[in-house]
Amino acid sequence: MKNTIIKTEKLCKSFIIGKTSNTVLKNIDLEIYEGDFTIIMGSSGSGKSTLLYSISTMDTPTSGDVSILGQDITHLNEYEIAAIRKKDISFIFQSMNLLPDLTVFENVAYSGYGLASKEQINQKATDLLTSLDLGDSLLKYPSELSGGGQQRVAIARALISDAKIIFGDEPTGALNSSMGRQVLDILTDLNNKGQSIVMVTHDIKAAARATRLLYLSDGKIAGDLKLGTYIPDNRAEREDAIFQFLKEHNW
Ligand SMILES: Nc1ncnc2c1ncn2[C@@H]1O[C@H](COP(=O)(O)OP(=O)(O)OP(=O)(O)O)[C@@H](O)[C@H]1O
Ligand SMILES: [Mg+2]
Repeated sequence: MKNTIIKTEKLCKSFIIGKTSNTVLKNIDLEIYEGDFTIIMGSSGSGKSTLLYSISTMDTPTSGDVSILGQDITHLNEYEIAAIRKKDISFIFQSMNLLPDLTVFENVAYSGYGLASKEQINQKATDLLTSLDLGDSLLKYPSELSGGGQQRVAIARALISDAKIIFGDEPTGALNSSMGRQVLDILTDLNNKGQSIVMVTHDIKAAARATRLLYLSDGKIAGDLKLGTYIPDNRAEREDAIFQFLKEHNW
């Protein structure tokens, strides 16, 4: 029996524009389990990012409850939320949110200070950036990098803290296929070592890394596919199973 790390009860999210209300998430009851590489798919506009933000403290639900690691986040104050963000979760944003006045190295290392000694964090930031082919760009500013380069800085920043849960909103979306594979390999490796991952993607190759695939449609979880642990040898088989699952849901 796996531990539940995220639980939603009757989660609803609506956006009000003028006089019309657009209900994007409709009474979602969902449990996400420790150790899983959970991937969320669904057509564009189905609410994947909205769901990810709502279960990761980045946005608040309109109604319903969300718990992270046993704490009901809908009732926490901003300090308690900040503590969860610093220590327990990290987030790879769809729009990168790097700080433009900090170097690549500083963007990553500053997120980690306080979690271990400064020397340890500095070393880890350097190692992470080097593993993402950014070893030569430590002293550059984000604006000097390509979109894919900036995305990799955001990934390094999310990995500096050894968070229990890593959230990603299309973290490989801006990367070429070989860099995308490299990032997926890093995430798979971290997942195998025990970090839980919750990630949104449009990419079947990325989805093949999932141990569980959720399909979002019409504001609800319409499909829930369990997959075993990823091994490169069974990738083609997994991609077939995922393709079939997506076809059944009119992806
Ligand atoms: N801040 C907002 N204000 C108003 N409407 C919003 C807001 N954020 C999202 N929406 C609406 O909610 C719906 C779902 O958006 P969301 O970004 O969650 O979709 P998505 O599944 O992530 O799409 P994509 O695959 O294109 O990233 C859309 O109709 C969108 O217009
Ligand atoms: Mg989105």
